[in-house]
Amino acid sequence: MTSSEIRKRFLEFYKARGHVIIPSASLVPENDSTTLFTGSGMQPLVPYLLGQPYPEGKRLANAQKCFRAEDIDEVGDNRHTTFFEMLGNWSFGDYFKHDQLAWFFEFLTDKEKGAGLDPKNLYVTVFAGDAATGIPRDEESTERWKELFAQKGIEAKYVDFGSEKEGSEKGMQGGRIFSYDVKKNWWSRAGAPSNMPAGEPGGPDSEVFYDFGEFTADGTPVHKLEFGAHCHPNCDCGRFLEIGNSVFMEYKKSADGSFEKLAQRNVDFGGGLERIAAAANNDPDIFNIDIFENARKVLEAETGKSYGENEKEFRIILDHIRAAVFLIADGVSPSNVGRGYLIRRLLRRAIRFGDGLGATQGKTSNQSSLSSVAQAFIEKYLAAYPQGHGLAEHANRILDEMEKEEKKFRVTLKEGLKELEKIMGSGHVSMIPPEQGDKILAVNEVDPVKAFFIYQTYGFPFELIEEELARRLIFVDKEKFKKLFDAEMEKHRDLSRTASAGVFKGGLADHSEQTTRLHTAHHLLLKALQTVLGPEVKQRGSNITSERLRMDFSYGGKMTDEQKKEAERIVNEKISEDLPVVRSELAREAAEKLGAEHEFGQKYPDRVSVYSIGPKSATPANPGFEKAYSLEFCGGPHVAHTGEIGKIKIIKEEAVSAGVRRIRAILE
Ligand code: ALA
Repeated sequence: MTSSEIRKRFLEFYKARGHVIIPSASLVPENDSTTLFTGSGMQPLVPYLLGQPYPEGKRLANAQKCFRAEDIDEVGDNRHTTFFEMLGNWSFGDYFKHDQLAWFFEFLTDKEKGAGLDPKNLYVTVFAGDAATGIPRDEESTERWKELFAQKGIEAKYVDFGSEKEGSEKGMQGGRIFSYDVKKNWWSRAGAPSNMPAGEPGGPDSEVFYDFGEFTADGTPVHKLEFGAHCHPNCDCGRFLEIGNSVFMEYKKSADGSFEKLAQRNVDFGGGLERIAAAANNDPDIFNIDIFENARKVLEAETGKSYGENEKEFRIILDHIRAAVFLIADGVSPSNVGRGYLIRRLLRRAIRFGDGLGATQGKTSNQSSLSSVAQAFIEKYLAAYPQGHGLAEHANRILDEMEKEEKKFRVTLKEGLKELEKIMGSGHVSMIPPEQGDKILAVNEVDPVKAFFIYQTYGFPFELIEEELARRLIFVDKEKFKKLFDAEMEKHRDLSRTASAGVFKGGLADHSEQTTRLHTAHHLLLKALQTVLGPEVKQRGSNITSERLRMDFSYGGKMTDEQKKEAERIVNEKISEDLPVVRSELAREAAEKLGAEHEFGQKYPDRVSVYSIGPKSATPANPGFEKAYSLEFCGGPHVAHTGEIGKIKIIKEEAVSAGVRRIRAILE
């Protein structure tokens, strides 16, 4: 079955069960500057999971483009990708475990309306309970799964594990339903309960796994001892593949670290389209599904190498190019910071692996090999959903950006190599630690500071520096290099909210009290800046943590001390007026007409959430937009009255780039 058929069936299945089908949100989160990428279907829906009414109803479903940069190093096996499509359905305080599990099971097993999987190949996991938070074992899901399997004539035995380790020690034991602890059967954007910030929603989950069988086609056991004594659903050996996760999102973390129930019980379901398609094909390699077929053939033609003999390299190239295609379509361009840095890393990595396979320009067209692969993806996705994902409008730009980046990278490689040759001369001999002394006498090392300079100046990848040096039996101290790299990234952190190791993890929309107060202060500050500096001041970026707010805005020069003082005074005056803060939902055009502030270059959905501050008489039913002090497109969260903010202080104002300034303020 093709993946587009599965996508279509999923959406039809949930539509028939009262769900409104919503479009995929952008990979660049809207109204949420605290996270780099959309990594799950629920991300744009957090306010509704927390209780804000969704204008179109309590049941939603979609296929959401997702990008999980934190998986970049996992790519290369048969199941991980950085980009994927997540099939999702949500209940905002409507149906719960009973229907969710039944429907998903029906979808997976129905031959006409679903994926047509054999129920005998399905295994499920449930939450084992957690002593630290006092959240109990999920008996209801266990019982429900027993009933559902029984309806298919399968007696489903329950096995209680707790930890993954226990799973490995005890093995399957003829079980069908397995319980695991918070590490495996709890979901929130931040992971386990102890990692969740205050205000974050989460809950126990129930996952479904597809069993590809204990043996490969030639009869070798799939499970190897390196993965543990025994195989079990959460084992990484490759026998089982997780194909769907029903999160029962009914908890929220409190400021004191305990968990309270949300006002409503939600379902947040997500299943990887590519993985469900792999299960439907009964082939554990997701790169064998239809979506990758043409691109893989192009890559084979460009390199003259076969996928079968170069699986890892092919998977990395195919994944990275597909991710880059969708990221560029959503407006991300290669650069040295933030999202742009990620895409640069994807493309440069793909180019290096392509070079390794001997890809040469022009085998199948006059564009570069990787652009040809990108083109194959674009064509495939356009055939699957012709209106979809902005690929049609952006096809030329995507290919252009890729070609441009490749050219830049090639220049960089050349220059970097020259510099590298120079520092090799500066390599010095250092002694090997005495315990290894009888094996090797000495190694050549280059100064990591010099290696770092090459990295920094030429964007020359560290792995390449390492390889080139190693070929000449010269080494560079990785640890020291990493320290320099981390220190440098620390400087960038504020600019891009990304840092060396953490660079690939998205942040979280923080609903803590401090952050919420700063959110509202941010709106007041924009208005105050417009009052002091002129109405042409526009927001160009923003970033809020629980410690401070930061806003980028367009303005030609440095603010004087008087101007800063005046802006601060105005904000504090508006705070002391204790103006009501009201959230309204409007059609985007209507909101634009009202003159609501929005960030230049941001994409917004057709219906937008708008926050107005003031007038004193404002209520949700009668917001009085024309008399509002401030009116902005925003997803929140915000305080209910400005008085809750307390008092703010402007701490810094500086230039970011030509015509763009950056200002920071804290709560006093
Ligand atoms: N939000 C859940 C996940 O990403 C469904 O796994």
